[in-house]
Amino acid sequence: MSELLNGLKRTHMCGALRGGDCGKQVVIMGFVAKFRNLGNLIFADVRDRTGIVQVAFDGETSKDVFAKAEGLRNEYVICCAGTVRSRGGNINAALATGEVEILVSDLRILSEAEVPPFVICEDIKAAETLRLKYRYLDLRRAYLQDKLIVRDKITKAARDYLSDNGFLEIETPFLGKSTPEGARDYLVPSRVHPGEFYALPQSPQLYKQLLMISGLDRYYQIARCFRDEDLRANRQPEFTQIDLEMSYVEDSEDVMQLAEDMIKTIFGKCLDMKFDSAFRRIPYSKAMSRWGSDKPDTRFALELNDITALVKDCGFAVFTSAADKGAVKAINAKGLGKVMTRKDIDACSDFAKGYGLGGLAFANYKSDGVTASFYKFLDQATIAAIEKQLDAQEGDILFFAASDKASLTTDCLGGLRCYLADKYDLYDKSKYDFLWIVDFPLLEYSEEEGRYVAVHHPFTSVKSEDLHLLDTHPEQARANAYDLVINGQEAGGGSIRIHDPKMQEKMFGLLGMSKEDIEARFGFFVDAFKYGAPPHGGLAFGLDRLVMLVSGTDNIKDVIAFPKVQNASCLMTGAPAEVEDKQLAELNINIKK
Ligand code: AMO
Repeated sequence: MSELLNGLKRTHMCGALRGGDCGKQVVIMGFVAKFRNLGNLIFADVRDRTGIVQVAFDGETSKDVFAKAEGLRNEYVICCAGTVRSRGGNINAALATGEVEILVSDLRILSEAEVPPFVICEDIKAAETLRLKYRYLDLRRAYLQDKLIVRDKITKAARDYLSDNGFLEIETPFLGKSTPEGARDYLVPSRVHPGEFYALPQSPQLYKQLLMISGLDRYYQIARCFRDEDLRANRQPEFTQIDLEMSYVEDSEDVMQLAEDMIKTIFGKCLDMKFDSAFRRIPYSKAMSRWGSDKPDTRFALELNDITALVKDCGFAVFTSAADKGAVKAINAKGLGKVMTRKDIDACSDFAKGYGLGGLAFANYKSDGVTASFYKFLDQATIAAIEKQLDAQEGDILFFAASDKASLTTDCLGGLRCYLADKYDLYDKSKYDFLWIVDFPLLEYSEEEGRYVAVHHPFTSVKSEDLHLLDTHPEQARANAYDLVINGQEAGGGSIRIHDPKMQEKMFGLLGMSKEDIEARFGFFVDAFKYGAPPHGGLAFGLDRLVMLVSGTDNIKDVIAFPKVQNASCLMTGAPAEVEDKQLAELNINIKK
């Protein structure tokens, strides 16, 4: 039977008690984390969100209370009133409260608990699927609670920073019209308008620009976004952005400097980090050529080398044919030749196959000579030039990627360098690496769609010095766009927007959209620009990713209270699920079985 508090009030959180509290009368509440009955002595660890404290029942405890304590089990919810006393020589160094315990004079069992499907402890062994089914139990662990505490701290720091800088927090609709962010929309059928659908926002992009046109000047929102895309370790179908937009900015730096200052404030508050310089600004083209990624992790070297020109006339057909239309690139995995086995090297080749390459050539600089099956096709001068460019020394192993599609070699080696750095522990994982990627291309050609698509989104402006390229070589024009990269992860991105209706029309034209398309999809948006639009720009940070980075996890599920799994379902609620025929009928929907 559950007991009542009957007016008893909590005086302390479990994790707060220290040696200095000895002698105090306290009341704590929490879950039983551990329970030991030694006959004439009973101990229980009581857990709340701030930590664990031991409570004791002994000869001094009244008979009633002692009898009640004998009935305690793990996960019972209890309230204990008693006196804090020293544990003497029995200090538990593993607990922050380890010097003390509470000798209980009054115990209330507020809720009994069945044996949970897994033991709730920090050194958890239960499978992730079971833990996600009972997420509310897994969330009792300090490991996950700490992540949500960091999340709250970051959100608060962002709100304080933005409010102090003149930004207004404004909510925008969930039920809206599809916005083109590049992923598939989640659709919501309308009952009132049969056959019509709302789209859940992929981001509040259009709304925040409209708020600038409304004269709200500076907007922010801790915004939930929905994208029906393939999930990865750092992606969820619903995630949260710290989304902002500001008026009267024309230069990317105006937004970047504010956003950078906010990030420094957040990391300062959460991790006590100090920053004495600006984050590096790295042009997209340089990031791609040096690190093979637009979100490079520069905590380790393993840089890409383009050797296309060197090998274009060499005797190795795989290289010459790739060099003809595409590229040959290589990385030097310094010192790894000594530790990699043949199986490890083959694993790198398999890794490359995942990118659509046939495999990887390698040259292993062993102490007893070089193992490189393809060197026999190359003359000495070419080999010497490769060795010089890649600084090949004994103990090194060089990996070569060749393809008639240059981007494949870049992507593959960009991925390989991270794979190797992780697998062989080539860098200090506790270090942080912040950088901006700038000068993104405005457009890229999509083979699949047979037209240009916007690299960022269709509302991003072109750099004024590249304006002339829009009519001749649009693919060469660079955008006023920027991404903040932290430890090789895209933490956020944004751009200076187009605010001239003629320019927006031109951009839609470059994207191959007809007047009718534009009218049907963005008519309301294009219209708005006719009535006066301040120059504006903004950015959005992935809040979940910031929490991951600050709290040091590479699993996005750790930082979301109720996350989805790979196939976008929720193991706890069973969503998505079938609905009743009556509901479908109201929505005029027939399901094809
Ligand atoms: P973008 O699409 O780059 O920009 O998104 C901004 C940031 O949101 C995070 N993010 C995600 N996090 C978790 N799961 C996902 N599925 C996911 N997708 C994106 C990333 C990313 O950097 N409207 C623009 C911003 C702007 O231009 O102001 C936008 O949404 O950290």
